Amino acid sequence: MELKINDVKAFWNENPLCASGINEELGTKEYFLKYNNLRESNESVSFSYSLHEYPSFKNKKVLDIGCGNGYILSQYAKEGAEVYGIDITETAVELSNKRFDIFRIPFNGGKIQVGNAESLPFDDNTFDCVCSMGVLHHTPDTQQAINEAYRVLKPGGRMIMMFYAKDSLLNKWNFSILKYIHPKYIGMSRQELVNSVDGLKNPKGDIYNYGEMAEMMKKFKHIHMFKGLIQKWMMWPIGYILPQGLLNLFEKKLGWFLYVKGWK
Ligand SMILES: C[S@@+](CC[C@H](N)C(=O)[O-])C[C@H]1O[C@@H](n2cnc3c(N)ncnc32)[C@H](O)[C@@H]1O
Repeated sequence: MELKINDVKAFWNENPLCASGINEELGTKEYFLKYNNLRESNESVSFSYSLHEYPSFKNKKVLDIGCGNGYILSQYAKEGAEVYGIDITETAVELSNKRFDIFRIPFNGGKIQVGNAESLPFDDNTFDCVCSMGVLHHTPDTQQAINEAYRVLKPGGRMIMMFYAKDSLLNKWNFSILKYIHPKYIGMSRQELVNSVDGLKNPKGDIYNYGEMAEMMKKFKHIHMFKGLIQKWMMWPIGYILPQGLLNLFEKKLGWFLYVKGWK
């Protein structure tokens, strides 16, 4: 059955990012502080700065597609960017606005609104930077969403995205053996296993290798890709007895996050 955007919307409205893992009321200061800690244990602040280069977008226009609870967008805003966010769910837009309000972060002229990555409510050539972290593999037509991001980017502007990697330890190890031995996953298809990373009822997740992603990004003048993140559960059960430092040595080759930058 063809996946509809409303199925995606319904899932994320019910399951805002990491909400079930944070034991605080959604949208409170305590919730955001715990979320930040959780996020920064996966992607350190220094890594995030080197990835996004926030200060270089001071006084520039930045769009975050699928802004979730506003974590990334708020980093651009704190460094002086004019920030715009869209998300398919009202819940995410409300959460992001609360984050900006509670921590008194300025939009610098921008705003956050409900919108669909596949038909962005912006003119061509509007933004200096478009980012979308962990979002576009969840939308029904990922290629259309990449094309839209390209359209609203100014010539010379930079796109930054995060997808999931096919050539990853999680896919090659867990998803190849888990369905035979892990009690929670027995009998699940590869697609269901990938979807389950964001919750068992997540209607869509996708994995890509470098070649597939380069094909999807072929309109861009120049692209750069690399991988990151191996957590212990991704090499179940052996990962639990290995030091994290050892797993980190393999993240550039076998990490689950596929980071993609493109210049228009
Ligand atoms: C895994 S979360 C990532 C949130 C955020 N980018 C971050 O890095 O924290 C995925 C987000 O994408 C949003 N989303 C999914 N499909 C979308 C679409 N077609 N258009 C806009 N937002 C979408 C969801 O509502 C959810 O907030």
